[in-house]
Amino acid sequence: METVVSGIRPTGNLHLGNYFGAMENFIKMQNENNCYFFIADYHSLTTHPTPGDLHGSVKQVLAEYLACGLDPEKATIYLQSDVPEVTELYLLLNMNAYVGELERTTSFKDKIRKQPENVNAGLLTYPVLMAADIIIHNAAKVPVGKDQEQHLEMARKFARRFNNMYKVEYFTEPQPYNFGEALIKIPGLDGTGKMGKSEGNGIFLIDDEKVLKKKVMRAVTDSGPTEMNSEMPEPIQNLFTLMDVVSEKSTIDSYKEKYANCEIRYGDLKKQLAQDINKVVAPIREEINAIKSNDDYLRKVAKMGAEKARESASKTVKEVREIIGFKPF
Ligand code: TYM
Repeated sequence: METVVSGIRPTGNLHLGNYFGAMENFIKMQNENNCYFFIADYHSLTTHPTPGDLHGSVKQVLAEYLACGLDPEKATIYLQSDVPEVTELYLLLNMNAYVGELERTTSFKDKIRKQPENVNAGLLTYPVLMAADIIIHNAAKVPVGKDQEQHLEMARKFARRFNNMYKVEYFTEPQPYNFGEALIKIPGLDGTGKMGKSEGNGIFLIDDEKVLKKKVMRAVTDSGPTEMNSEMPEPIQNLFTLMDVVSEKSTIDSYKEKYANCEIRYGDLKKQLAQDINKVVAPIREEINAIKSNDDYLRKVAKMGAEKARESASKTVKEVREIIGFKPF
């Protein structure tokens, strides 16, 4: 049985990128592994949410985790901030993470561009906190989307560095995971880039059928191919990437053929895509609303998860302290 760890930042509702990049694998993995799935609420502080927004988003994401099929009896589901041991490991790892390498991280460079007014130290050391999240349970596998690949590489580096520095084989080097397949990047509906929470290009699990359809129908396309078998431009490829995760193979093949023959009608393709997306999210949407109003249940799940996660985390921190040389007289 392998240990698996992954998390999602509570900075808004979950979207199809989160679902197909990560959640779908959480659900598959919980049956056969020792899984820790958490809500990365410390991480979300880099964008300075109000207390009300933070609390609301954490509750929403917990309800969404459960609605997607995460089972608190099978996996340890917890809030990151309920496990303060993570912050101690983060501090210890920070001593051994270099400013130069942190400054070169793609996500940090992105943030400097996107929020130049708020380049805080939490953003710089974000990959260190993420490494602490993962190695605190000594995870072997981390189900994530493609955008987290570099962070995982850094987690391995920090784990290896600790082992080398103290001449121990203590931490496992965690691998990004998608069932032997390449990691997934779900595109947004705006033609380029990935689907994101703050990019305004996402389809959320709670979007109702009408909203969802409207968003898909507005997705960027072009005027259509004019030559047989021509290469697809990115916005069109993106629609097919979405189809790949929600539609039947025969449906996808038939639209690909129409594209190759210059017979494609984007309106039809989008209608089909919206329908197929709705098939996946409709049952989840209903569950989210039911679970969200059940505070007792959410409280119980969070409490149970916190206890299990702290047990594992405190064991690691105790051992790490000893390795480092913090010992009783
Ligand atoms: P976050 O909250 O941005 O995203 C959560 C998960 O969803 C995946 N994802 C996507 N996958 C494919 N296509 C997309 N368009 C897309 N958008 C998001 C992400 O890859 C991720 O798996 N730093 C992390 C949260 C985190 C974490 C961790 C993850 C904190 N500590 C430890 C794993 C292990 C983040 O911001 O993900």
